[in-house]
Amino acid sequence: MPTSLVITVLVLFLNVASQTSEALDPFACDPKDGMSRNFTFCQVNLPTKSRVGDLIGRLTLQEKIGLLVNGAAAVPRLGMKGYEWWSEALHGVSNVGPGTKFGGAFPGATSFPQVITTAASFNATLWEAIGRVVSDEARAMFNGGVAGLTYWSPNVNIFRDPRWGRGQETPGEDPVVAGKYGVSYVRGLQGNDGERLKVAACCKHYTAYDVDNWNGVDRYHFNAKV
Ligand SMILES: *[C@@H]1O[C@H](CO)[C@@H](O)[C@H](O)[C@H]1NC(C)=O
Ligand SMILES: *[C@@H]1O[C@H](CO)[C@@H](O)[C@H](O)[C@H]1NC(C)=O
Repeated sequence: MPTSLVITVLVLFLNVASQTSEALDPFACDPKDGMSRNFTFCQVNLPTKSRVGDLIGRLTLQEKIGLLVNGAAAVPRLGMKGYEWWSEALHGVSNVGPGTKFGGAFPGATSFPQVITTAASFNATLWEAIGRVVSDEARAMFNGGVAGLTYWSPNVNIFRDPRWGRGQETPGEDPVVAGKYGVSYVRGLQGNDGERLKVAACCKHYTAYDVDNWNGVDRYHFNAKV
């Protein structure tokens, strides 16, 4: 993600953080912290754009880079704790990413069928409805302190070769269906409350990931020759 997008998402979370009163301490702009109260980026009544601008203006290059990776570093001088960007919710909140832990009051989450099967319904209403349920559970788990608010979902790589080991995560080989699926599922995850996100979706992956290397090691080490 570009830095400005990351910062926008961070600032949108500050709104979220200010709404959740119990379970979790907010990861930034903690009302109990006198210093945070004075930062412009913590003023929830200001437009997001001004808050993002203020925060970007305060961050050093090093701090910006630190925020661009999974397991983002804390920025204590701005009252920001570390944040784990990586959670997954392709067809239900999953614990394969380090940002989500099942256990205690949250032994698991609803697991919908693999995306390749729900995509075959060609039913965009259904795709959005599934996204809504997933984000309801994600928010409940966030409030309980066991999940993040950023999900590396949906997977919209075009399924070009049936031997690719992740094809079942995708809506299939048709770019039109994949596009419609992506729009509906992202809307289901993020909600329709203007710029306030229910959770943040992230369509993945960069292009040319959707093959495996038949002669060598795995899909992480091959020349895609686009
Ligand atoms: C925050 O601003 C208030 C009002 O201007 C001021 O009294 C206070 O000292 C400031 N706090 C910090 C930690 O800078
Ligand atoms: C599409 O899915 C919605 C939500 O589950 C359902 O109400 C509707 O009947 C489905 N449409 C078709 C044509 O099956």
